[in-house]
Amino acid sequence: MEATEKPYEKGVVNVATVARFPEGFLWGVATAAYQIEGAWNEDGKGISIWDTFSHTQGKIADGSTGDVACDHYHRWREDIALMKELGVKAYRFSIAWTRIIPQGAGPVNPKGLDFYDRLVDGLLEAGIKPFVTLYHWDLPQALQDIGGWANRDVAYYFADYAAVVAHRLGDRVKHWMTHNEPWVVAWVGYAWGHHAPGIKNTKVALQVAHHLLLSHGLAVEVLKDLGDAETRVGIVLNLSPVHPATESDEDKAAAHRNDGYHNRWFLDPIFVGSYPADMWEWFGQLVPEVRPGDMSIISRRIDFLGVNYYTRSVVKHDPQGGLLQLRGVHVEGSEYTEMGWEVYPDGLYELLVRLHRDYKIPEIYITENGAAFKDEVTPDGKVHDERRLNYLREHFLRAHKAIQDGVPLKGYFVWSLMDNFEWAHGYTKRFGIVYVDYETQKRIIKDSGYWYQKVIAENSVPS
Ligand code: FCB
Repeated sequence: MEATEKPYEKGVVNVATVARFPEGFLWGVATAAYQIEGAWNEDGKGISIWDTFSHTQGKIADGSTGDVACDHYHRWREDIALMKELGVKAYRFSIAWTRIIPQGAGPVNPKGLDFYDRLVDGLLEAGIKPFVTLYHWDLPQALQDIGGWANRDVAYYFADYAAVVAHRLGDRVKHWMTHNEPWVVAWVGYAWGHHAPGIKNTKVALQVAHHLLLSHGLAVEVLKDLGDAETRVGIVLNLSPVHPATESDEDKAAAHRNDGYHNRWFLDPIFVGSYPADMWEWFGQLVPEVRPGDMSIISRRIDFLGVNYYTRSVVKHDPQGGLLQLRGVHVEGSEYTEMGWEVYPDGLYELLVRLHRDYKIPEIYITENGAAFKDEVTPDGKVHDERRLNYLREHFLRAHKAIQDGVPLKGYFVWSLMDNFEWAHGYTKRFGIVYVDYETQKRIIKDSGYWYQKVIAENSVPS
């Protein structure tokens, strides 16, 4: 495979033997509401599209639901204690819109607000900074019933919801993320139908992506208006470097297209104020309706970008390869995780340097990075997840290198604090640095968790 000839191929990024991170570097862990909370119908919570989707037969690999998940809704004190033990400085979690405004728009549910209020207080007492994501995929079903994100009104309802949350928590929460991975919401949810709401319509997916971006811009304004001098607002994108499988012009063009579809389609509107022209042309009739003024709302200045990085993609031109006329290729000799994602730490360095160079982003956080491997509790009662530990170490070292080279990277959130409901994969993929026994809800810190505890305590990573 020709990829090995490339300058960005494995091991090219020289990393330090001991990587000391800047003082105040924010080591954290991340989760999302639907994946951990459970309590799907308690205390006035409304039904979300993930409740509906997971309750529909055939949608989730193991037939499971998030009804109970990690039961975090009831065990949050224990989970904060766990984070405290690990020594994490920050916790990224999401708020379930349906707990706050059960029907998506209209009456507010005080018990939902109370839950997050207590959680935030508990975190602050433990010395952990809350980083709050407003939308991690669990749209109120009532809003799906009027078209979901395909309906432009939903963008405005999102801004209203943001205001309700900011009013209640904004005195203590200083870091807000509007959306998590709008690419996944639009494409996986509305074009492929593998995620809720399970729609398969490419044109709708592109309109959805536009409304998600619009809702982001509207919420940025609300959060800034209601915030103070310390308030920081950002968005989280899933980004991946794209490499051509060979040096052929066709493969290089395919890689550029995939980059346009996956990365630039979101980065450009937010940081440049326009959709990438090459992709606008490529999508032809499929492009979304954009109203006058939308792009300036979408490109309102944000304070940071959250980057979710798991892998790169390597692609080959293929006229039969659907809308983008390309297909992904398997890289011979590479390690792959349980998700089928290539382990490619150099891609994190490449991505960070590129974001800094092309988009001049004021501050960057890695808001998710981690890996699913087959974990088991051994007779000693422990989980020896060496591969995850190695994965994290290699990625931390690339992040360190990026900082040395001038990238304003301020923090790093490992995905995930604990094993949880991995969307359409149900409970079959474990990403945690803490193991969860779903039968008993017992949590066991994995070796990677103890290793991370040391990294945080020393603020440095041994290579
Ligand atoms: C990301 C999601 C997160 C988790 C990880 C593995 O796409 O944001 O919720 O599922 O992947």
